[in-house]
Amino acid sequence: MDTKATPYSSLKIFAHAEKLNQIHKGERVAPLYVRLKPTNYCNHHCYYCSYADSELGLRDIVNKQDQIPWDKMQEIISDFKDMGVRAVTFSGGGEPLVYPHIIEAIQGMKRAGVETSIITNGQLLDGERAKELKDAKWVRISCDSANAETYARVRKIPLDAFQRVCDNIKEFARIKDKSCELGINFVINHENADQIYDMAKLSKDLGTNHIKFSARITKELFEYHELFKDNVMMQLHRAQMELEDDKFKVINKYEGDFDTAMVFARQYHRCYINNLVTTIAADCKVYFCHDKAYVSSGIVGDLRQKSFKELWFSDEVVGRYQEFDAMKECQHHCVYDDRNILLNTLYGLDENQINFI
Ligand SMILES: C[S@@+](CC[C@H](N)C(=O)[O-])C[C@H]1O[C@@H](n2cnc3c(N)ncnc32)[C@H](O)[C@@H]1O
Ligand code: SF4
Repeated sequence: MDTKATPYSSLKIFAHAEKLNQIHKGERVAPLYVRLKPTNYCNHHCYYCSYADSELGLRDIVNKQDQIPWDKMQEIISDFKDMGVRAVTFSGGGEPLVYPHIIEAIQGMKRAGVETSIITNGQLLDGERAKELKDAKWVRISCDSANAETYARVRKIPLDAFQRVCDNIKEFARIKDKSCELGINFVINHENADQIYDMAKLSKDLGTNHIKFSARITKELFEYHELFKDNVMMQLHRAQMELEDDKFKVINKYEGDFDTAMVFARQYHRCYINNLVTTIAADCKVYFCHDKAYVSSGIVGDLRQKSFKELWFSDEVVGRYQEFDAMKECQHHCVYDDRNILLNTLYGLDENQINFI
């Protein structure tokens, strides 16, 4: 478990003890946080993308044409306001900044009192879009190459895109509010494994607050990474030693990914997280969580038939959550496994003994 005080800390969950206690007692509460995928269309074509790589077998069909119609998005925003949803991340599916109503959607969320964040490839993080995001809680740019050639090859896009993205990051770092955490997510694969230190250096030079390194999730994960893992670790440690300071952090999720990525079973029946964090995807469907997005067995319901609020509090859906059994239904990777383990342990403690710390 990651116990460092970074923006990615698993321990943030304990700041929401009140809601967790309600969930534990079986009460239905509004979700705290929603991952929202406005469109499945993407302007990049990364060869390793889990939404496009059918061999990886993580998703059922992801229809590139799907996007949330604007009237449905407005209804979702209004429901978030009524329900008291606290935070949203615009992500993909595809690339959220190509969504034609992204500026209005961000504005709407802010007016509704919902904290905003985005995961983007950064190519369109400019002009009005950048201005609208400068007071977001966080902006995370997915970038997996320290030079234009690798970037263009991995993403199957023209050579000049890399410079545009670097310029956008630099300019965004200049205009953003101090409270907006700007980070890069660098997915390590065989194409870029020798660029770890260079990319951390570039990230710092561009003015970001952190760079996070994670592993490309692929079949034969260990065998795939074995070829370059030692070299990656050496560069990561060097980057941490030489580049970290008060303003810039190098976050190593890479090593932890090997512990979690191959855990395909849950040791508990109860998922606390899916009551608190949910996913609305570009196909207008609500999914139990991010790991279940675009998987038919993970569908909670369809927003083309009901509003989000109606669906979330409907008897049928509340009953479905009560019946939900993580041990039976989640025999795959779970990004929230560590938090569910902590919560199931906490709520499993003997009440007669809890004061004897
Ligand atoms: C699928 S993208 C969607 C949002 C946006 N288009 C972007 O590029 O940030 C979200 C994140 O998932 C990561 N990702 C996609 N496939 C992956 C894989 N097989 N292993 C690890 N990360 C992956 C991407 O690198 C990106 O940071
Ligand atoms: S995969 Fe994890 S977060 Fe998703 S429903 Fe299962 S236990 Fe909950």
